[in-house]
Amino acid sequence: MPFTHIPPSWQLPDSAATPETAFWNRRRFIKTLVGAGIGASALGLNACGQARNGDIDPALRQTLGRPLNSVRPNPDFRDGGRPITEQVHASRYNNFYEFGGTKNIWQNAQKLPTDPWTLEVGGLVNNPRTYDLADLTRRFPLEERVYRFRCVEAWAMVVPWIGFPMRALLEDVEPTSDAKFVSFTSFYDPKVTPGPAWEFALNLPWPYVEGLRIEEMANELAFFAVGLYGRTLPKQHGAPIRMVLPWKYGFKGGKSIVKIEFLREQPATYWNMISPNEYKFEANVEPEVPHPRWSQSRERIVGSGTNPFNWEVQPTVIYNGYGEYVADLYGV
Ligand code: MTE
Repeated sequence: MPFTHIPPSWQLPDSAATPETAFWNRRRFIKTLVGAGIGASALGLNACGQARNGDIDPALRQTLGRPLNSVRPNPDFRDGGRPITEQVHASRYNNFYEFGGTKNIWQNAQKLPTDPWTLEVGGLVNNPRTYDLADLTRRFPLEERVYRFRCVEAWAMVVPWIGFPMRALLEDVEPTSDAKFVSFTSFYDPKVTPGPAWEFALNLPWPYVEGLRIEEMANELAFFAVGLYGRTLPKQHGAPIRMVLPWKYGFKGGKSIVKIEFLREQPATYWNMISPNEYKFEANVEPEVPHPRWSQSRERIVGSGTNPFNWEVQPTVIYNGYGEYVADLYGV
């Protein structure tokens, strides 16, 4: 992120972007497409986790996880108001700085060792626990949720995640009344996760740690993903378990989580330590608050054109469109 290049397509005039009302109301959005002779199924709208994947080449296919059958789609989160991003794009355009400083880390990330995996949960809780992956999926019923995803770098996708609400884990470990914040630590082993080539210049604060207020973790939207597109998580997306917080910028969604700690004080977090002025602890999607180096009022839709420079541009919406779930967390 520190060296994000701002492509010229972001600088479209307001008139060039589709007006918010033309895409945000899903009914009208679909009606417009149907009127134009484009079937919803062609866009993957009626098939959570079934976005067209025909173009996936064998090398990418090998990185995809194993099928997760019989996962119940959560009816409240069946669509993201836009077509699901095709996996061929989502799984080859990633941020995972442990494996490099470009978007093209999907092959490097295959070095991540995920079996066995343990997740240690402790700090200010009545029931500290160390879960293995089987414990997690046995204890917490899996569901599928289609969420919009907005990166602070102003690109966006719609992803069908599989996982369980963070709230379920919260109830299992029972935080004490002193717990006000939660930290989430990602896997780190310098022998496996070399970091970007420019690491030595920056002295990056590994491991990647993210944090939430405890009320944010308890929010209905906050989710741990163990899969996507009907399968277990590919390593490039943060296998075997990562955070998904659709109203916040994507960097809040730590990948490959090994440790969760309940705390009295706000934890130091990765991007916030690197550049506090650019990457806030709260990091909610707020189109009116520009990043110091670029506007946050629009987003480029991943995979909507032949290359990132001609991806379609859409307006960004406050809390990424999830205000009805989260606005009260921020006194709005
Ligand atoms: N988690 C870890 N451990 N390391 C990272 O570099 N990048 C973040 C987030 N989680 C990151 C991470 C950023 S900046 C984004 S936008 C999302 O992961 C990207 O998720 P995706 O690659 O699954 O789309």
